[in-house]
Amino acid sequence: MTVRPRLIAGNWKMHGTAAVLHEIAAMADAVRDLPGHVTVAVCPPATLIDRARHAAGDGPLVIGAQDAHFEEAGAFTGGVSVGMLADAGARLVIVGHSERRAGCYETSDEVRAKAAAVLAAGLTAVVCVGETGDERDAGTTLAVIGAQLDASLPDATAERLAVAYEPVWAIGSGRTPTLAEVAEVHAFIRARLVSRYGERDAGTVAILYGGSVKPANAAELLAVADVDGALVGGASLTAAEFLRIVAAA
Ligand code: PGA
Repeated sequence: MTVRPRLIAGNWKMHGTAAVLHEIAAMADAVRDLPGHVTVAVCPPATLIDRARHAAGDGPLVIGAQDAHFEEAGAFTGGVSVGMLADAGARLVIVGHSERRAGCYETSDEVRAKAAAVLAAGLTAVVCVGETGDERDAGTTLAVIGAQLDASLPDATAERLAVAYEPVWAIGSGRTPTLAEVAEVHAFIRARLVSRYGERDAGTVAILYGGSVKPANAAELLAVADVDGALVGGASLTAAEFLRIVAAA
């Protein structure tokens, strides 16, 4: 039986300075002996990637980034390209997080260009999708996610691709969908991946659940069919809390 890869990724958002690098070192120490199919990643702010890489040492903890520009270089004030992130030590990039779609007006076309740039550079891309509370209440969750997937996923390859289902209303709110709702959306995403990339390639894509994942609910969420991992915000800021989620994987 092939075991689908599991990925537990921490998204530090705009939190963290050099003062908290010891959390990264503690995470790196703890994940040294995990089974090979479980990957643990932490995505600190871009300013910390290089130092986080050093704090993590040569173990398997992956250091990632939270966003990237889709161009390699150019007149993009404030922009950071995938190549620059890779140069700093990042091996994974989150793209299309709802805080960037809503707060920074990112379109799915831009998200697709970013994901393509990440994959072309040989890094892992975590493409985020998710409905708002109003969309769920209106019964349009699957239609919204289908449209986001169609427009945000890169065409060329599913290699090193992961998708994160993050209901916008669950992020930072302490609320989560029911396990049946999670299962419904993850099965829908898997089917969409199969029709896009074919059974074999789609089977290697990890589908993460994100939105108020905590030590107390991680095990039940990770036990849902087609939930291959978690994208964790607030609970990834300390090694103590994050490692309890990793332990549930
Ligand atoms: P949360 O954030 O775990 O704090 O809800 C998740 C995310 O935004 O990726």
